[in-house]
Amino acid sequence: MPEDGYRDEIKQKITETFYWLHQHPELSYEEYETTSRLKEALTAAKIKILDLPLATGLVAEVGQGEPVIALRADIDALPIAEQTELSYQSQQEGKMHACGHDFHAAAVLGAAWLLKKQEAELPGKVLLIFQPAEEAPGGAKKILATGVLAGVQAIFGLHTSPLFPVGEVGLMTGPVMAAVDQFNVEFQGRGAHAAHPERGSDTILMGATFVTSLQSIVSRNVSPLEAAVVTVTQFHGGNTWNVIPGKVQLEGTVRTQTPEARALIQQRLQEIAQGVAASFGGTAEVQYTAGPSVTYNDAQLYEFARQTARAAGLIERQAPASLGGEDFAYYLEKIPGMFSLIGTGVGPVNHNPKFIADPQALFPAADYMARLAQDALRQQVWRR
Ligand code: NI
Repeated sequence: MPEDGYRDEIKQKITETFYWLHQHPELSYEEYETTSRLKEALTAAKIKILDLPLATGLVAEVGQGEPVIALRADIDALPIAEQTELSYQSQQEGKMHACGHDFHAAAVLGAAWLLKKQEAELPGKVLLIFQPAEEAPGGAKKILATGVLAGVQAIFGLHTSPLFPVGEVGLMTGPVMAAVDQFNVEFQGRGAHAAHPERGSDTILMGATFVTSLQSIVSRNVSPLEAAVVTVTQFHGGNTWNVIPGKVQLEGTVRTQTPEARALIQQRLQEIAQGVAASFGGTAEVQYTAGPSVTYNDAQLYEFARQTARAAGLIERQAPASLGGEDFAYYLEKIPGMFSLIGTGVGPVNHNPKFIADPQALFPAADYMARLAQDALRQQVWRR
């Protein structure tokens, strides 16, 4: 990696970009200013931006020919009102980079700068993905739809982690994040007077029974050795105290680690909704929407990332598997990859209004990502 003077210069530029991004959070598919700022920074460094049909987000490249390695950052913020005391707080009311995607963008930009410095010696090409709308989720699909990733041998992603201090990286092989599905259920019955339930069919009772029965899927149908969770997050019905409503609506999410558990839970959820409705004299309509699948770290790339982390002077920790979701999984459906958790200081969790990613972790993250790309090309790691 480059000499000290250049490293210091990059360190400063990454930090400045990070502060700016943090002050200017933009929600999924609205990342226009963010995209312009990143384009400016890349263009100033003479890094080529690919001409792709993307409204927000971008893909840049360093090096040429084949093979091709991709580094991915997401760039969107959340509808959360910031509650930190930072000097570079959000300037957009009700919006915040509470998941650290500002950190990801700045770190991958830093990696682009570091790789540019080494461009002549790169034995192939590195694509730098600045992806919109991870939180939507599904921005990854927009990038994939451009076809720009055809022929990519391996892809690396990163995420801020408040579980680890600066200087540490959390790595694991296998399912690091869960498959994320969403469901909506509407129970229909016959509305009635609260004093005469026998003349209707009670949708509140259907909904309540459904919520309770749903929890038997994970405890009774999924193997006790497997991780899965079903959570109901919305329950709407009724508008006054003495009327049994004719319908109730529920919404929630299912998180799984294997395709088998994913299919099983979807099926059982349907059966329970229909069964509960029928047993109370009503009907149920279920909408089940599949989101990103499991974020599955490739075993070879995991071993390679461990070596690279050591070479970059990072302390390796075992990353805990999570039933959180990540649309990086869409890339992994097509390309082997590895998702690393970068220690950004122990503190409030991602999506919390007090979440902070320590800028001290920026340069180490940029250096690590650049090394992953460069060493993957040099060692042709996907061929092992
Ligand atoms: Ni995130």
